[in-house]
Amino acid sequence: MRVVLLGPPGAGKGTHAARVAGEMSVPMVASGDLFREHQKNDTSLGRLARSYMERGVLVPDQITIDMVMDWIVKNENKGGFLLDGFPRTLTQASALEESLGAGSGIDRVLYIDVPIKVLIRRLSGRQVCGSCQSIYHLEFSPVKSIGECDNCGGGVYQREDDKKESVLRRLEVYRTETEPVIEYYRNLKILVDVDGDNDVKDVEMTLMEAIKS
Ligand code: AP5
Repeated sequence: MRVVLLGPPGAGKGTHAARVAGEMSVPMVASGDLFREHQKNDTSLGRLARSYMERGVLVPDQITIDMVMDWIVKNENKGGFLLDGFPRTLTQASALEESLGAGSGIDRVLYIDVPIKVLIRRLSGRQVCGSCQSIYHLEFSPVKSIGECDNCGGGVYQREDDKKESVLRRLEVYRTETEPVIEYYRNLKILVDVDGDNDVKDVEMTLMEAIKS
């Protein structure tokens, strides 16, 4: 089964992606995490991506498409995959379709939607572990020991692009670039709407039901 997880910045894609992929027994990848991994390793791709990510704009399509397609090729024959945050432009959606063949090649698109006010609150309080990428929130899901990841003890930090100006820019980019992708998949009748403005456990349950339906 091939599944795409879509939604605005802060909708909860990262919070739920690993568990949903686990339930489906398929590998998952988040395009944002791939870029952050390149930055951590100080690769030329990482340095290039940083200059876009810090400003809250999308990394150019061809760079993103090549990176994600490379991951897909390496993870072929594992019963499917879950993509978090890709595709997020119509050009990326077409490239994915071309490479997978027949129809969109995607079985289901889970679209998590959350009102803008809630997104801003979530992003401004988010903390992420620099080692294992676990996600926390200062108010909604704080770490037990200040500055330390509950899972691995690594340091937690605020993402550069979670600062106010970047957040507003990301929401605007989402509206202009990614909302058309939602409509594209809705027209193909493979999109399932998920209300993300609920308790984490309730959202998770809705996502699980959506992949089983
Ligand atoms: P990326 O890393 O993909 O960021 P994003 O899409 O903006 O999504 P986020 O990671 O911000 O949010 P999320 O939905 O995962 O929310 P989370 O679960 O953390 O992309 C970053 C950048 O990389 C882009 O701006 C771009 O530059 C580049 N990029 C990536 N992909 C690209 C692509 N395809 N093309 C071009 N460029 C690309 O949750 C947020 C917070 O809310 C957390 O603190 C969490 O604890 C909390 N929370 C979650 N759910 C709930 C809930 N139900 N109740 C209360 N709190 C909750």
